[in-house]
Amino acid sequence: MKKRILIIGACGQIGTELTIYLRNKFGKHKVIASDIREGEKELMKSGPFEILDAMDYNAVEEIVIRHEITDVYLMAAMLSATAEKFPMKGWLLNMTSLFHVLNLARDKKIDKIFWPSSIAVFGPTTPKIDTPQRTVMEPSTVYGISKQTGERWCEYYYNRYGVDVRSIRYPGLISYKTLPGGGTTDYAVDIYHKALKHKKYICFLNAETTLPMMFMDDAIRATVSIMEADKENIKIRSSYNLSGMSFDPEEITESIQKHIPEFKISYEPDFRQAIADSWPQSIDDSEARKDWSWETKIALDEMTEIMLSNLKDKY
Ligand code: SER
Repeated sequence: MKKRILIIGACGQIGTELTIYLRNKFGKHKVIASDIREGEKELMKSGPFEILDAMDYNAVEEIVIRHEITDVYLMAAMLSATAEKFPMKGWLLNMTSLFHVLNLARDKKIDKIFWPSSIAVFGPTTPKIDTPQRTVMEPSTVYGISKQTGERWCEYYYNRYGVDVRSIRYPGLISYKTLPGGGTTDYAVDIYHKALKHKKYICFLNAETTLPMMFMDDAIRATVSIMEADKENIKIRSSYNLSGMSFDPEEITESIQKHIPEFKISYEPDFRQAIADSWPQSIDDSEARKDWSWETKIALDEMTEIMLSNLKDKY
């Protein structure tokens, strides 16, 4: 088996942990990490790294050919809050990088693609509880529009050219290794850091904002298992709903207070409140469970324990 993997956007929140996981699984020289800038020490010393601008087709192609890449994980993207500040930049980065990778697969230069979608594909008119796989999708953010459009193109490239592209609609992801950047769900990571450091946190969403979330270990397991599943089992070529847990800022606060009783939260909602209000509160992921045996493992209190015990030496 001559699988060789390229991760584009390897220094981001997902990319860092995905790279290390795949290197442990397949061997460090089989997994090339790339990003527009260098990342965390642990990632940089774990195997080969290339500086790569995901917008530059020739540069992506050159690395794919030189390293004889078979599988690409395209993790570079501008997230929801930043893309509201730079709409055209967000749209161009998110779409151009996807087309580069889809076209490499269409032209048979790579075999398989992982491309992340998001709960942001849903919008204010979508049913909010147990949001089904197939439902009304009228996203109101630039990020959501780019992810929904991306899903349509993935399905099109599969139907028209047979491109083996696989995708998951990630909920908000929580991890301790690398910080997220520019997302609406980022508060659920920041809150753990501030709880340890200052024993208080000012939240940019209000107390009752319930959102779908997931601990990073579950997200990485989902990502690798959809990529390793038999081709015939991947029945959805746009993107699969994926569910971990749902909570609001008050509930994550209560979970932290079980360990840090003096911890206090206050609320100063900003423009991200409207983004969060447009997204679902919980997700029905029965298609992923059925097609590639997905099962979530980590719930809120267990995640809180893992987060606090891994971050405590930092502060
Ligand atoms: N976590 C992302 C964001 O908040 C959603 O995919 O933008």
